[in-house]
Amino acid sequence: MPNIASSACAKLILLGEHAVVYGQPALAIPFSSQRIKATVEPLIGSPSGLIRIIAPQLGLDTPLEELSEDNLIAQALTLSLEALELTQRPTCVLRIHSSFPFASGLGSSAAITIAIARAISSFVGHPLPVEEVNAIAFKTEQLMHGNPSGIDNTVIAYERPLVFTKGFPVEFVMPGDTFHFIVADTGVKKSTALTVAQLAQHRLEHPQRVDSVILKIGNLVGVGSRALLSGDNVALGLAMTDNQGYLHELGLSSPELDTLINKALEAGSLGAKLTGGGQGGHMIALVNEADISTIQQALLDAGAKTIYTTRLEKA
Ligand code: PMV
Repeated sequence: MPNIASSACAKLILLGEHAVVYGQPALAIPFSSQRIKATVEPLIGSPSGLIRIIAPQLGLDTPLEELSEDNLIAQALTLSLEALELTQRPTCVLRIHSSFPFASGLGSSAAITIAIARAISSFVGHPLPVEEVNAIAFKTEQLMHGNPSGIDNTVIAYERPLVFTKGFPVEFVMPGDTFHFIVADTGVKKSTALTVAQLAQHRLEHPQRVDSVILKIGNLVGVGSRALLSGDNVALGLAMTDNQGYLHELGLSSPELDTLINKALEAGSLGAKLTGGGQGGHMIALVNEADISTIQQALLDAGAKTIYTTRLEKA
């Protein structure tokens, strides 16, 4: 069998994270320049069915059997091999490399599963269709996050801008203009499972207050998606900043995020907010192309650990 290399992109939630867990829509885009790569090579001369996993960024160089059952890579491989209905496991080495940090709001857990499902299924000559890859990644998201909405696996599997609402068909969105974004890392790692669980607890304690904020976030997603469709940069930016206000109210921001978001706005961003699970991880700012370098510098001066730029092309 030949060597196989597959990958999966990172993702950015423009509007609606957390509220999406409670049935509201959310708007997400692929972050295609940042990827997790999975390569599979035959392991000649090794015992049949041995799968060796090498992922230096996760401190792993081990046979699959030695990973604990709840390990994400073990889950991704096991579910993919089950979906392939193989009578015998391939004998191979699986290498994983990410260009972006884990546990920081960019969808690394879904991207790992999707890259693995694509690579292992191509290696055995039966590439899994996107729907199956998406379903496998939703299962690993459930194991990792407890109560995921399904937005991460969906936007990463399809690698297209979309509005996601739990339990409803995905709505792909065609941008009406080109949108430019700056993404900055606070350097603070935070588990999404934890922030999702904290919001659930907060909601138990203050159901009406939390639900009214969740509903307001859902309404902003409607406004922002229409802005994306019509190419209205200003309206999308305003929706993003308003969304940040609500996420802050729900306790999902952090001092590091607030600093970067405020600096980005002061330096001329059209809108800025946290992206993903929050309380750390990354922020995203919508910017005019001409302001990119000024805003990047302002973010670096304010302590951003890594800065990325990305754009969404007009469809
Ligand atoms: O932190 P990330 O990249 O896993 O993003 C999670 C998005 C949430 O809305 C917070 C959770 C979810 O399952 O939708």
